[in-house]
Amino acid sequence: LSVCGVFFFLAYLLGSFPTGYILGKLLKGIDIREVGSGSTGATNVLRTLGKGPGAFVLLVDCLKGVLAINLVDALFNLAPQYINYNFIPENLDVQIWQPLLVTLLGSAAILGHSKSIFLGFTGGKSVATSLGILLAMNWQVGLATFGVFLIVIASSKIVSLSSISGAVAVSILMILFKQPLAYILFSVAGSLYVIIRHRSNIERLLAGTEAKIGQKVEVKS
Ligand code: G3P
Repeated sequence: LSVCGVFFFLAYLLGSFPTGYILGKLLKGIDIREVGSGSTGATNVLRTLGKGPGAFVLLVDCLKGVLAINLVDALFNLAPQYINYNFIPENLDVQIWQPLLVTLLGSAAILGHSKSIFLGFTGGKSVATSLGILLAMNWQVGLATFGVFLIVIASSKIVSLSSISGAVAVSILMILFKQPLAYILFSVAGSLYVIIRHRSNIERLLAGTEAKIGQKVEVKS
């Protein structure tokens, strides 16, 4: 269990890496949490710092999710000589514990992105990191979820609405693609978490005041 704990913490640290915050400081000397939506995620970086930095944050935050899931392989392949695998019950099937570990590390990375240890437990809304996790769990589900996101953004031009739509779609897609039960439960819980992280966006959406893509925020450097 302690090995699992170490890897859980590593995945949490990976998720915690504050890409958007660092870019805000480096490029404009600002605290991104004090501008726009206050999120450190790619959308707020896009509206505050522009397209290039926004795309960079999207990519790196997505990669954090991919890497966190790949820790599972590291756990079992890289260092078998050092690790005592007693923490896995002998009669538990690999088909069961492997998805469980993936789920555990994915949850840690999602938590890290939105409650970063480097930012006093603040951060983003975990959308890009969740996409990376989904792509690493099952790339078809990841791509299909991203497809839902793209369709909604093309028609609405509102990122938060697209993220919420992707979050709603992902559990259905997990079932359609016949994924392990652990992944389905993970997607239900993860989606709820991501939607809750969007509560201020939901209030603005209902009030009709949510910013559309392209509406820039003036930032004094
Ligand atoms: O991925 C986050 C997005 O859905 C909303 O971001 O900055 O508009 O709150 P933001």
